[in-house]
Formats: sequence, C-alpha cells, structure tokens
Amino acid sequence: MRTKIIAGNWKMNNDIPQTIELINGLKTALAAQTVKATVIICPPYTSLGVAQQLIAGSVIKLGAQDVSLYDSGAYTGEISVAMLKSVGCSYIIVGHSERRQYHHESNEVINQKAKKVLAGGLLPIICVGETLDEREKNITNDVLTTQVKGCLAGLPAADVEKSIVAYEPVWAIGTGKTASKEQAEEAHRVIRSVITGLYSNETAEKVVIQYGGSVKADNAKELLSQPNIDGALVGGACLKADSFTAIITAA
Ligand code: PGA
Repeated sequence: MRTKIIAGNWKMNNDIPQTIELINGLKTALAAQTVKATVIICPPYTSLGVAQQLIAGSVIKLGAQDVSLYDSGAYTGEISVAMLKSVGCSYIIVGHSERRQYHHESNEVINQKAKKVLAGGLLPIICVGETLDEREKNITNDVLTTQVKGCLAGLPAADVEKSIVAYEPVWAIGTGKTASKEQAEEAHRVIRSVITGLYSNETAEKVVIQYGGSVKADNAKELLSQPNIDGALVGGACLKADSFTAIITAA
C-alpha cells in the first residue's frame, strides 16, 4: 500500500506573519485528528526558516518549490539543495508547469534538478502534465510519456521508487477546472505504465503519483479514491488551514 501524500504548494504567497498564521491554524486543525497521510507544505524560500521552527514536533514536513541546478557559487538569486536541506526541507518540487512556462525549464533541466535533489538526500516531486491544446489534439499520453522518460532519464530504480511524480494537467491549474476522476486515473495509469516499461512493475507500484490541478475539499475524496491516485499537490486550496485540512482528512 502506498501512503497518500498531500503537499501544499504555496507558490508566491504569504509573508512571515501570514506564514505564522497559516501554519499555526494548520497545526491546530491537524492536532484534532489522526493524520494518516504524509503532509508537506512548500512555502516560498523566505518563509522556510520560520516554517521549520513552527512545524517542529508536528506531522507537517517541509518542502521547497524549486532548486538550483548548481551546488554553489556565482549564481545570483539561486538556492541550492544543500541550503534547502539545512533549512529543514525533505522534499523539493521540480518542473512545475509554471517553471516550465515562465522559466523555460525543459525535461532535461528538470531531470538534472531531480538528480541533484536525490544526490543531496532529499526527495523530488516531479511535475508532468499536458496543456489544453495537447489534450484537445489527443496527444496527452504521448506528452506524458515524453515528460516521464525525460525527467527520469538515468535515475536508478531505487531513486525512482522514492520519488514522487505529480500529474498536473496545465489546463486544470488555478482554473477551477479539475480533471474528472476518470481523466486523472487514466493519466496516472499511463504514467505508471511508462515507469513499468522503463523499470519494472515492482518499481512502478512503489511510486507515489499525486494529482494536482484545482484540488478542493469537495473533489479530493473522489480523486483520491482512484486506485492510481496516491495524493494531491494543492495550490489555491492550501492557502487556508480549513480547506487544506479537509483535503488531508479526505486522504
Ligand atoms: P491549484 O494549483 O490547486 O491552484 O490548481 C495546483 C498546482 O499548481 O500545484
């Protein structure tokens, strides 16, 4: 059985006071229940330090939204895996569609970032997903296959088994349009079968595949009850303690 993993991608939201308020709200809400899922929050870099202190002793784990390809040196504005590790991160999102779109990150770059994350002892959340245009052209499965192959290239099975893949159809991100449970399950099945082809059924069965794209309290349960949907990567709905908690409860 794969443990469900619910991650909140805060994106470019929340200053320090807002970070404190959200994490305290989340801790209070989660303390009132037995949490079976793994819970991760991915605040912006500036909030990671305060987040690390606030989550100590709670079930909440810390992740970052991106990372540099490089270890150290003259890369103004970049943050390394080692820095994120030292601030308490265990997970790093790589290849989010907003990074692909606004920062032109290719599958090759995302692959290199995933390797850096794993080499540093952290776990990558590797994002893939088709655009609306690609879905309408009926090439979703080809796009996902290319992305999964590109992002996992050269990774040993043991690393793939620990990694998380997030299926995030670009047309569902921040739009209020969610993939239907059938559309999402089909895409997850395709992703898992690509991993089976690259490695083995045993490896593919170990990989947690999250769904992301307008996950809300009221659609989380039906998505998360699909056999190949092992968690959620949540944007908008993770910015309020009550809606993020409801998604965690659904898992
Ligand atoms: P959303 O974002 O939940 O706001 O659609 C998801 C994501 O981009 O990870």
